[in-house]
Amino acid sequence: MALLQKIPTGCKVLDETLKGGLTLGNVSLVYGEAETAKTTLAMQCAVNCARQGYKTLFVDCDGTFSAKRLSQISSGNFEKIAEHIILARPKDFKEQASAIDQLTNYVARGFGLVVIDTITFLYRLEIAENPGKTFELNRELNRQMAWLAQVAKMQKIAVLVVSQVRSVFEDAYVDVEPVATRVLKFWADVIIAMKPSENLKVVKVTVEKKSEATQPFSCYLKICETGLSEYSNPSV
Ligand SMILES: Nc1ncnc2c1ncn2[C@@H]1O[C@H](COP(=O)(O)OP(=O)(O)OP(=O)(O)O)[C@@H](O)[C@H]1O
Ligand SMILES: [Mg+2]
Repeated sequence: MALLQKIPTGCKVLDETLKGGLTLGNVSLVYGEAETAKTTLAMQCAVNCARQGYKTLFVDCDGTFSAKRLSQISSGNFEKIAEHIILARPKDFKEQASAIDQLTNYVARGFGLVVIDTITFLYRLEIAENPGKTFELNRELNRQMAWLAQVAKMQKIAVLVVSQVRSVFEDAYVDVEPVATRVLKFWADVIIAMKPSENLKVVKVTVEKKSEATQPFSCYLKICETGLSEYSNPSV
């Protein structure tokens, strides 16, 4: 098994910008509105990690991980790939915290990637139930991100954190959303924004600027049966 260097997203232009894909030791944040293919992108990373013989711990906080979708993305190699993806399904924010706290117990040798999808889902439910605890819950979200950043560095693995943002004023969570996004962005080494486009099946992907030295980069990707693919003409 060759030494893992990078985990490609599988989208050529995006991987070029990311200099090969997700970097070990880094936390990458993928955020965007519902149905902008965030989970699809995370699954592609898990599949490309498996293709190099390394495991992924996929923490499925919002319960949307689908074996069917994984098999479409794995293109015929499903069984071998599925063996390399370990699923965790926390039921509430407390269980999410304990899954993240215990990462070093099960993310040992042979792991290349940890995915947390969606990190703000159970947090959002908890805030809706206990609006008075917002400050405490934000501090807890910050603590989880800090620990993920530390685990990424210590274990030399890539961490991919997925977050959903809402465009409309739907619930009590809207007030705290900018705070949560700021916390997530603070800890992320790489920030990828997914935005809907006029075409339902096409998303605009932007690798945001993290420092003065980096330039933002955008491209369009098409959501297909087998995952995300190149889309060069957004006006069509
Ligand atoms: N086999 C498929 N062929 C084409 N499109 C698909 C297929 N499977 C899923 N999709 C579409 O891909 C889109 C993105 O799904 P995905 O679950 O990756 O989005 P998401 O950003 O994670 O959404 P959410 O915020 O709700 O978690 C959805 O519109 C879904 O209908
Ligand atoms: Mg999702």
